[in-house]
Amino acid sequence: MKICCIGAGYVGGPTMAMIAKKCPEIDVMVVDINAERIAAWQSDELPIYEPGLLEVVQEARGRNLFFSTDIDEAIRAADVVFVSVNTPTKTFGEGAGRASDLQYWELCARRIKDVSTSDKIIVEKSTLPVRTADAMERVLHAGDKQVHFEVLSNPEFLAEGTAISDLESPDRVLIGGHETESGQVALQTLVDIYASWIPRERILTSNVWSAELSKLTANAFLAQRVSSINAISQLCEATEANVAEVAHAIGTDSRIGSKFLKASVGFGGSCFKKDILNLAYLCETYGLHEAAAYWQQVVDMNEFQQNRFVKTILSSMFNTIAGKRIAVLGFAFKADTGDTRESPAISVCKELASEQAQVVISDPKALDNAEKDLADATGIMFEEDPYEAVVDAHALAILTEWDVYKTLDYQRIFDAMEKPAFLFDGRNILDHTALHKIGFEVYSIGKGRLTHLD
Ligand SMILES: NC(=O)c1ccc[n+]([C@@H]2O[C@H](COP(=O)([O-])OP(=O)(O)OC[C@H]3O[C@@H](n4cnc5c(N)ncnc54)[C@H](O)[C@@H]3O)[C@@H](O)[C@H]2O)c1
Repeated sequence: MKICCIGAGYVGGPTMAMIAKKCPEIDVMVVDINAERIAAWQSDELPIYEPGLLEVVQEARGRNLFFSTDIDEAIRAADVVFVSVNTPTKTFGEGAGRASDLQYWELCARRIKDVSTSDKIIVEKSTLPVRTADAMERVLHAGDKQVHFEVLSNPEFLAEGTAISDLESPDRVLIGGHETESGQVALQTLVDIYASWIPRERILTSNVWSAELSKLTANAFLAQRVSSINAISQLCEATEANVAEVAHAIGTDSRIGSKFLKASVGFGGSCFKKDILNLAYLCETYGLHEAAAYWQQVVDMNEFQQNRFVKTILSSMFNTIAGKRIAVLGFAFKADTGDTRESPAISVCKELASEQAQVVISDPKALDNAEKDLADATGIMFEEDPYEAVVDAHALAILTEWDVYKTLDYQRIFDAMEKPAFLFDGRNILDHTALHKIGFEVYSIGKGRLTHLD
């Protein structure tokens, strides 16, 4: 069997590497229009940072895992074509700022239709609005070609930073297919591929529309939990309740569960915001205005939480940060990835810079992306070494929960900083009492501040 995957990004690359590793009898060809990305996949400097990924790629690459820019040939040769291209939020025209931009996806569908000479299974891996498979089938079957395409929805639930373990041992895999005979045959083909390493009871099957909608729903539920605990963090700060204690108390309720209850400066990543906006937009398209407003609020609360973090910095530092050096530790949207898409650090750093602060950013894996994200902002510097970043800084802000930040020598950092030395823990990862003892003015999320000034 031959598989082709269109789109060699954060999803296409790791997912295909895992299939190739687990199914040595299947040839897997990953293609992309971005030649630089493909070249990086062919080297040991992979285009994305993901713990454990290089080892998986190295095991299969050249054996049954290949990367190429020859998209047409890969499609023609394949029995199964995964479409894993980006589906960002539309920035123009009808639905701008909310709807999914489906142009990359549609280009793929047309390409598949134009070059195919044999029947194929087409797998939607990208996150798409519900009922996209309908449009996909209409594009694929337009014209008079005698080739049959069977479209499946197989949304990806991996999380960046833990992609390899998520792929190796997922909670579940979801495959949606049509309830026709050919739909069920195609569905079974994909089930059998995953069954090479995933127990069959964890491979869920459904109709196509349920699979498409389940992905948007999963992200909406996860993001909603973060926005909910962040909304509570605001109340905690006003009442001397401690958000970590509240989260622990409710997270131990088996009906609720403990994950995604960490209060923070806000969620980021390429998916949550775009998928929830898309869900809200979809609701509106179906005339469901209250449901749309409900989901929109999850995104609004996230933006408010980021904005509130900057306001806390400004008000605690005597309402002026102009000319003050502020060291930002962490720029990636979360730990263990270099991905900065929709990272709260972007808006926080831009707002700090607009207050004329001198912002010095440090991150173990995301500095290249940070430089691109902030290309149009002034007063921003980049420094790999966190100890250098904090020299003469008036404030230190933690924006990503990297483990290395938990074990820095904070006495050394305190000594290098201007006094009073402010510390804003946007991820609640540090020992605030110990930091206060060292002499820091400590501000965290959803806990009372620990200061020496009042
Ligand atoms: N990043 C995640 O954690 C994650 C998790 C689950 C699902 N998803 C979904 O998976 C999809 C892909 O996300 P990603 O993060 O991998 O995106 P990405 O931007 O990292 O990768 C997409 C790739 O597709 C390529 N591409 C675009 N149009 C193409 C075309 N016509 N032909 C060939 N290649 C083309 C781009 O060059 C890019 O390399 C999105 O729909 C996203 O919502 C992402």
